[in-house]
Amino acid sequence: MISNSLRDVYKKKTHNSRKLYNDSVKIFPGGISHNIRFFRPYPFFVNKATNKHLIDVDGNRYVDYWMGHWALILGHSPNVVVKKLDRQIRQGTLYGTANDISIKLGETIKKSIPISELLRFCTTGSEATMYAIRIARAVTKKRIICKTIGGWHGFNTDLMQSVNYPFEIDEGVGMTGREGDFVESIPFNDLDRSIRLLESVKDDLACIIIEPLLGGGGCIPADINFLKGLEEYCKRNDILFILDEIVTGFRLNFGSVSSLYHLNPDIITLGKIVGGGLPIGVVCGKKEIMKVANPVENRNKEQLCYIGGGTFSSNPLTMTAGYATLDYISKNRQTVYNKINKLGDIARNDLKKLFSDYGLKTEVTGLGSLFLTHFLSNKVNEIKNANDVALSDNDTLTKYHFSLMTKYGIFFLPHKMGAISIVHDVKDIQSLINATEKIIESDILTIMKN
Ligand SMILES: Cc1ncc(COP(=O)(O)O)c(C=O)c1O
Repeated sequence: MISNSLRDVYKKKTHNSRKLYNDSVKIFPGGISHNIRFFRPYPFFVNKATNKHLIDVDGNRYVDYWMGHWALILGHSPNVVVKKLDRQIRQGTLYGTANDISIKLGETIKKSIPISELLRFCTTGSEATMYAIRIARAVTKKRIICKTIGGWHGFNTDLMQSVNYPFEIDEGVGMTGREGDFVESIPFNDLDRSIRLLESVKDDLACIIIEPLLGGGGCIPADINFLKGLEEYCKRNDILFILDEIVTGFRLNFGSVSSLYHLNPDIITLGKIVGGGLPIGVVCGKKEIMKVANPVENRNKEQLCYIGGGTFSSNPLTMTAGYATLDYISKNRQTVYNKINKLGDIARNDLKKLFSDYGLKTEVTGLGSLFLTHFLSNKVNEIKNANDVALSDNDTLTKYHFSLMTKYGIFFLPHKMGAISIVHDVKDIQSLINATEKIIESDILTIMKN
């Protein structure tokens, strides 16, 4: 729980947001349009975002580490994207037909992701993962999908299993209750136990879908050997191996983690960064697999896997923003990744050292430019999977993130990992460290000290 005094400071600073939130609850369930955007007592409302800052309707300015659900690697409204969008908006926002700019973005992705022999654009990451597993079922003629416990692949019904603690039941009501019959959930980073679980379903197992870094589940990198072991298991048993790189694609390197780790997945899903700040999802795969989705060659329902839908798929605005973003990164790739990955290392190391200097038991997890602090508890003394994250001291994390936001103008969506973009610099990381130290000293974290 946040203390009443801190809550009062927030309320005082966000008077206009409170009024808007009161209006908002009359229009939207819970007053928001994405569940995780709500935090207590109410979220601040933003009416401007540039560079590394969010500016709310009360004029408060926050250094943003949420960065549009981790999508904005070049910061908010970067000039290279805005200029191109400005031109495109006058040429048309939605052609609803084939367009040449999609070829440029498609070619850029294809060149940088080896297995991406053919790809399909759609409008969200949830749609991309929905299509990916549909393709897997179509190609293997099997039904069961394997995901990791705590893995998040968007809001599509098939994958709404074992996402949140206690990871045992369907995620919410409104489903048939039978989806779980076709989903096997395996423990993240535990290869032996995973394989044992898979053995009992392998004859009907269509695919394993996995994030190389558990994102929503707590910013935990997958062990390379875990990924390699699962991939090998898939190859041996006629199962498709799908890497969900909606967060990691173009985040750690120019392309996918599969290249960094020498993996050879059958399908990769992308989103976020490749949309340049506009809505996108992408399904990339090997030709042999993606051909099942070719509506020109597969003329009847027995052959064709329908994955092409979406009024807004491949729309010229997203294609333009995505291409402008990837083109910029491609030309500056060494500078971009050296900078953000180094800042990520500094953030993780300096936070870790600071907490340890004060005798606080924490782990700062992450990879490259992604990072998250976990306060350990008497139930958990290391963070290896989403279960550890759920059992760590999340109350203290709420206070930490809320204090950063309210007192120091540094925004992490409470409980979620931070993403560094190229407009952040070493001074920002230093300010984060200084603010963290003040928060520790002001005794907000005293409960941790014992
Ligand atoms: C790994 C992963 N897959 C899929 C999704 C869903 O993407 P979207 O929110 O664009 O539907 C997300 C969203 O955060 C994600 O982190």
